Amino acid sequence: MRAAIVGSGYIARVHARLIAGLGGEVVGVCSRTLSGAEAMGVGQAYDNLDAMLRDEKPDVVHVCSPNSFHAEQAIAAFEAGAHVLCEKPMATSSDDCRRMIDAAGRAGKVGAIAYCYRGYPAVRELRRMVLSGDFGALWRVTGLYLSQDVCDPDKYVWHFSPGLCGPAFALFDYGVHWLDLVQFVTGQPITGIIATFNTRRPDRVWRGRPGEGAKPRGRAVDGGVAVDFALEDQADIMLRLSGGASGTATIMALSPGNPNHIALSVDGAAGGFDWLQEQPNSFVERRPGRKIVRDRDPDRLGPDDRWTASVPAGHPEGYPDAFRNVIAESWRGMRGETDNFPTFGAGLRGIAIVEAAVTSATERRPVDVAVPDADFARDYPAS
Ligand SMILES: NC(=O)c1ccc[n+]([C@@H]2O[C@H](COP(=O)([O-])OP(=O)(O)OC[C@H]3O[C@@H](n4cnc5c(N)ncnc54)[C@H](O)[C@@H]3O)[C@@H](O)[C@H]2O)c1
Repeated sequence: MRAAIVGSGYIARVHARLIAGLGGEVVGVCSRTLSGAEAMGVGQAYDNLDAMLRDEKPDVVHVCSPNSFHAEQAIAAFEAGAHVLCEKPMATSSDDCRRMIDAAGRAGKVGAIAYCYRGYPAVRELRRMVLSGDFGALWRVTGLYLSQDVCDPDKYVWHFSPGLCGPAFALFDYGVHWLDLVQFVTGQPITGIIATFNTRRPDRVWRGRPGEGAKPRGRAVDGGVAVDFALEDQADIMLRLSGGASGTATIMALSPGNPNHIALSVDGAAGGFDWLQEQPNSFVERRPGRKIVRDRDPDRLGPDDRWTASVPAGHPEGYPDAFRNVIAESWRGMRGETDNFPTFGAGLRGIAIVEAAVTSATERRPVDVAVPDADFARDYPAS
């Protein structure tokens, strides 16, 4: 694939490495500043997306910019005849997601979402076990996504700049990954949610340091701009799945000592499991009266999932391997070779669930997710 990347920050660099590892070529990088794009050290540098699309004619555009730019940049890429691999969250509103899906359809191109945690072999194994009925009817789905990313009161990220993040912070930055994992592993849509939000650190100061983004709107203070940050940095949610299972999760951006603590735990009538992203090569399978630790073993994977394990049992795989798998299957989807990749439909569902959570937290009531269950099989293909 001849790939172009939009953005030149943390995740753009991850994409650049994985594109090269998959035999693709990064032909161009477009960022907010030309110097930022040049600093990536791959492809031709641009600070104008239209110019990059016109000059480089990429097969695929990897959108790795702040959330509020995803929709327009993805639509421009489709209109230029490229496929799109868009970072999560897909956009900042479900209306924008629908415009992106329409643009892909008009162009006859494919959009995929970088739901990278789907790529772990253990996640694939658990999904197969759930879908084959190994755990019986599901009763409970609970979990966590705890991060310490913005614990430091002095830290400023573009998410704090009004308008760039969208209507949610923790749920858009971390929560959509966990919500996708739940739906991917259970094969069931999340249909309703109750949410409580807290903002533990409402005061943030932009000082124009590297990585803080463009100067935000706010109050001038000594050495910078003070911003009143009103989005949630802690979301506590209770959810319901179409098959009747229910459960809770906390999504937290201020959890000291937890860089990326993602937990998924399920109980069903015949058993359950617990999986932790920080130890992705094993999971605990639970049966009445027994707990069994299952270490990663490619021989236990289903035939469709064997490819996700790139080394034999006993060798650990990690985040870059899982991420590489998701880019690889998304590219295969773009070539028409599979429909089992994180679709734009799955991206839309994530945004719609977060919108329901925002409404629930604001109006203090349970809210249904406004995406038809009937489309779930298309958004999360079982094959
Ligand atoms: N899949 C994952 O696990 C994962 C992890 C981290 C971030 N992300 C997502 O990736 C996106 C970027 O996050 P990040 O952590 O790399 O942020 P970052 O701050 O490290 O980088 C953002 C980059 O976008 C550039 N940029 C800003 N405005 C732009 C514009 N208008 N056009 C082009 N480039 C622009 C900035 O210069 C910077 O290079 C976000 O949507 C985030 O949610 C996903």
